[in-house]
Amino acid sequence: MQLYIETVPVEQAASDALVFLCFEREEKAAEPVSDPALTLQDGWLAGLRGSGEFTGKLYDWCQLYRPAGIVAKRLIVIGGGKREKFSAVEARRIAGTLVRALRPKGVRTITLVLESGDAVQAAAEGAVLGAWEADKYKSDPKKNDKAIDSFAIAVPGTEAAKLILALERGRIIGDAQNLTRDLVNEPPNLLIPEKLAEAAREMSATFGLECQVLDKAEMKKLGMGALLGVAQGSDNPPFLIAMKYVPAEDSGKDHLALIGKGVTFDTGGISIKPADGMEKMKYDMAGAGAVIAAMRAIAQLKPKVRVTGYVPTVENMLNGNAQRPGDIVTTLSGKTVEVLNTDAEGRLILADAITYATRNGATHIVDAATLTGAIGIALGHHNMGAFTNDEEFLKRFQSAVRAAGEKAWQLPMDEEYKDYLKSAFADLPNIGGRHGGSITAAWFLREFADPTPWIHLDIAATAWIDDGKAWLSKGPTGVAVRSFVQLALDWNFV
Ligand code: BES
Ligand code: MN
Ligand code: ZN
Repeated sequence: MQLYIETVPVEQAASDALVFLCFEREEKAAEPVSDPALTLQDGWLAGLRGSGEFTGKLYDWCQLYRPAGIVAKRLIVIGGGKREKFSAVEARRIAGTLVRALRPKGVRTITLVLESGDAVQAAAEGAVLGAWEADKYKSDPKKNDKAIDSFAIAVPGTEAAKLILALERGRIIGDAQNLTRDLVNEPPNLLIPEKLAEAAREMSATFGLECQVLDKAEMKKLGMGALLGVAQGSDNPPFLIAMKYVPAEDSGKDHLALIGKGVTFDTGGISIKPADGMEKMKYDMAGAGAVIAAMRAIAQLKPKVRVTGYVPTVENMLNGNAQRPGDIVTTLSGKTVEVLNTDAEGRLILADAITYATRNGATHIVDAATLTGAIGIALGHHNMGAFTNDEEFLKRFQSAVRAAGEKAWQLPMDEEYKDYLKSAFADLPNIGGRHGGSITAAWFLREFADPTPWIHLDIAATAWIDDGKAWLSKGPTGVAVRSFVQLALDWNFV
């Protein structure tokens, strides 16, 4: 799909669909005199409004076929909801909704008219995200459901040069989020840890990042007993990937580490998961997918801060050599862990990756992991769970999350919760009790991050949607990518 800024007057735009936004309760703005393309239609919209058929409700749309006086084949109005509530979030979804709703109707080219340049980046992202489908492995994709060829954005009265940068950013970030979705959507027989490492290596080579991949022997030598303990039950060997971005002018000593959980399949191990729904555990590498894709966007957008993306990747399986409940492993940090449940594997591989990141100079860490089912019980599917050992850092991150149009909700990390992690035989157990499962998981990670400023994002309930939205296909969402990129772009040196 080609994305561009439309420069000809909108009534001359030669697209299959020319789209205007209309807001609720704005009879006048529905047909503003300044939009000749709309006013040419002789009261069409006013008629629809009058009949109550179209109210401007968010994402609601209607169309006029072969309208008078304009070149486009269709004139479409889409509801923007209440004007005072309209933001980049709605613009992103409107663009995605248009792509998904118009594609099966034979529309191949769309021109979206926006009133200001503020939402151009978000609209570009939304169009790119809306175009993604989880149909790679279907041999007969829906017949008329061909791809949209081009999506243009017009902002009458604003110079194109001012909008192109925003559009370009939107394309890069939307494509990155779709890269995550591609990786997460890969079936677990095909995307084994080795393939994930290959994808990271190829991406790094193409986009000019240094990429280092530790293999099993190297990790053994370093002493990553926690990561290797999880990996030992699989015939597919583990890797630890590091992708390094160094800015041209390194303006400070800060070094951001992004760490993503890369369990390419989570059976639970000997503490095996129930069969029902286990196929979804291919998305247990969604954090890894987000980090690899964010690193690509960072390589393209070149923020001023140094960023390294780390991905510990393993398969949590159960062959004759699999880790047992009761095993005690020694982590890279030197701390020992009693593995009480082999299904709490994410924190084990992350522990070693976090220690590795701090030893390689990370001054700030953000990890993303599909870590606990409990996070969905606590927050549902709309907010990532956020945990930190540094309130100031989380405050900065939250403004990046908001600017990126994502959502994260902080959960508490009082010292009392740490006491849920008591092992009779080792320094730490890998699980707490039944309660506060997401918090004890976070506390486990914190034991390896302290005192480095650190944020943990539990994305187990947000990285995958079972029900598609009008603007987004069902399946992997690519959550956290936009927040990661925004954090790097907005970096304030402390
Ligand atoms: N990968 C799972 C968490 C998960 C659950 C992700 C559902 C996506 C959807 C993780 O490795 C896991 O199994 N966690 C356990 C922890 C428990 C053993 C303390 C869980 O949440 O049940
Ligand atoms: Mn697990
Ligand atoms: Zn897992």
